[in-house]
Amino acid sequence: MAIFVTGGAGFIGSQFVRDWVERYPSNTVINFDKLTYAGNLENLSSVASHPSYRMIRGDICDASEVLRALPQNCEAVVHFAAESHVDRSILSATEFVRTNVLGTQVLLDAARARNVRRFLHISTDEVGGSIEEDRLFHENSPLAPSSPYAASKTAAEHLVLAAVHTFGLNSVVTRTSNNYGPWQFPEKLLPLAISNAMEGRPIPVYGDGLQIRDWVHVANNTRALRLVLEKGRPGAIYHIGGRTPLTNREVLRTILGSLGQICRPADSGRRSARPRPALCRRLFAHRMEARLAPQDRLCRRNPPDNRLVSHEHRVGQQREER
Ligand SMILES: NC(=O)c1ccc[n+]([C@@H]2O[C@H](COP(=O)([O-])OP(=O)(O)OC[C@H]3O[C@@H](n4cnc5c(N)ncnc54)[C@H](O)[C@@H]3O)[C@@H](O)[C@H]2O)c1
Repeated sequence: MAIFVTGGAGFIGSQFVRDWVERYPSNTVINFDKLTYAGNLENLSSVASHPSYRMIRGDICDASEVLRALPQNCEAVVHFAAESHVDRSILSATEFVRTNVLGTQVLLDAARARNVRRFLHISTDEVGGSIEEDRLFHENSPLAPSSPYAASKTAAEHLVLAAVHTFGLNSVVTRTSNNYGPWQFPEKLLPLAISNAMEGRPIPVYGDGLQIRDWVHVANNTRALRLVLEKGRPGAIYHIGGRTPLTNREVLRTILGSLGQICRPADSGRRSARPRPALCRRLFAHRMEARLAPQDRLCRRNPPDNRLVSHEHRVGQQREER
């Protein structure tokens, strides 16, 4: 059995590939990735020499490259590849439309041509815009993309659902909330905040920092993706989240709090994991200033067995309900 993963050298895709190879070592996993600035083969060093893993460098927007790489009767296409950074999409949207919209259509056409059995499309909860107060998205939330990135992902979802309606393609869509975990490119909020804090540099906060996002650990997300791939109903949309809605400010407080704990001096009863006095002083000063208490809400509220796939709805339902 072969699965074809796009964008497998990125943050979430690489976690999915590593997990899959470990879990199903006899399956062939083809990682089709353009290796843009966001793709990093180091993410896959643990599986690079595994006999069932193959890396093919290619562009999802190039139909002939995709058709050359995609085997006939492939078990599944798992489509992660995307331009994924909201801020970049605000600076320039063209590449987002090309990769996220055109690239998805190229893959859908190739999947039909190669008689692929299943198409898993990875979308985002950002198609619903911002979470208001403490309410999470659900299956009937209206689509309200608020950035070019989110708009391009919304368009891609529609193309996938159109392929289900028009051609009977066996597809499932997942909408995932913000992921955190290892190997994320350092332009994203969490790694950027952590590396800036460790180097004593200021952490950028947009506006008042009160925008609410739900957070899920990347390994929990990929576990849910496997479940949806194996058991999801064709034409359904599944929301995957950690049930951890936090404002950006809360997230940053958590990070500073945790780094403060790491730097706690030895005489406080805890060992100093990184004995860098200048850094510790800066972090403590920052914490005192902002009256931050040590927190680990992100970890505490994401136990490994929490309910990840919260909602689904069938194609067509949303249109009737709006
Ligand atoms: N990171 C999150 O928090 C999050 C949340 C919800 C949904 N998503 C979605 O999950 C998917 C993966 O996100 P990520 O954070 O791992 O992204 P990422 O930016 O870390 O990785 C994207 C990968 O796609 C590859 N790629 C880009 N353009 C390509 C092209 N034209 N052809 C082939 N490969 C190409 C890149 O080289 C990279 O390896 C995306 O579809 C994203 O929209 C991400």
